[in-house]
Amino acid sequence: MNAHVLDGKAFAAKLRITIADHVAALQAGHGIVPGLAVVLVGEDPASQVYVRSKGKMTVEVGMRSFEHRLPDTTSEADLLGLIAQLNADPAVHGILVQLPLPGHLNSDLVINSIDPAKDVDGFHISNVGLLGTGQKAMVPCTPLGCLMLLRDHHGSLAGKHAVVIGRSNIVGKPMAQLLLGDSCTVTIAHSRTADLPAMVRQADIVVAAVGRARMVPGDWIKPGATVIDVGINRIVADDGSTSLVGDVDYDSCAAVAGAITPVPGGVGPMTIACLLANTVTACCRANG
Ligand code: GUN
Repeated sequence: MNAHVLDGKAFAAKLRITIADHVAALQAGHGIVPGLAVVLVGEDPASQVYVRSKGKMTVEVGMRSFEHRLPDTTSEADLLGLIAQLNADPAVHGILVQLPLPGHLNSDLVINSIDPAKDVDGFHISNVGLLGTGQKAMVPCTPLGCLMLLRDHHGSLAGKHAVVIGRSNIVGKPMAQLLLGDSCTVTIAHSRTADLPAMVRQADIVVAAVGRARMVPGDWIKPGATVIDVGINRIVADDGSTSLVGDVDYDSCAAVAGAITPVPGGVGPMTIACLLANTVTACCRANG
């Protein structure tokens, strides 16, 4: 079998056009411009790339981008002070604090100091609770992007067995909640799961979010299953060149799967598009 490629790049581009239309209508009809504040503490190179790309796309869809780059020596009090300012700023509808934070900062404390209505990452404990109880929440962007690709491909997901590999708060756990909300039977697998290959072979849908390059080989995949690869791992070849690969071994998985997301160009672009969508949602809710 040759898997259908789930083109997240093209899907996200269409989504950004719809978002830009909404933004233009908000401005024309109500004089409101949605604003997204992104806070980066420290110099992590991967985070710098993500933050730059978020800022660029925010401006491209017509929204305001507020970037706050702080040194890695920033104190918790100073960071909390900045978040309090952003919470109170009516021009800021969404706040994202790029993770990971330097070790001396308490991420839970920082995330939970964001106004839940502006928490476009959906990481605040209130949003986690709302999502877990099936109420209206800000939904984390990466799992939301995965869900959109799955719904677009399958229509209904009801009754499908989804195996999510990875139990992070950012992807694995909220992904499981969203799939459950769409009536999948959900298994969360992780590094201590007994006989992971046998578990994954039962899945109609596999979501790999472990952060280990090419960890899932094709012989773990049930023929015809859908494979969503959340991993973005930079690897260095023998000749010193670098490339990005996912958490699944693309070639062997694509030979067995019914559908698969590529890396790059699969889940990654969806994450940023969903962040922009969440910011518009936050803006609309803030303005009734
Ligand atoms: N670091 C890696 N992914 C994310 C994300 O989705 N949001 C934030 N804030 N930080 C991240």
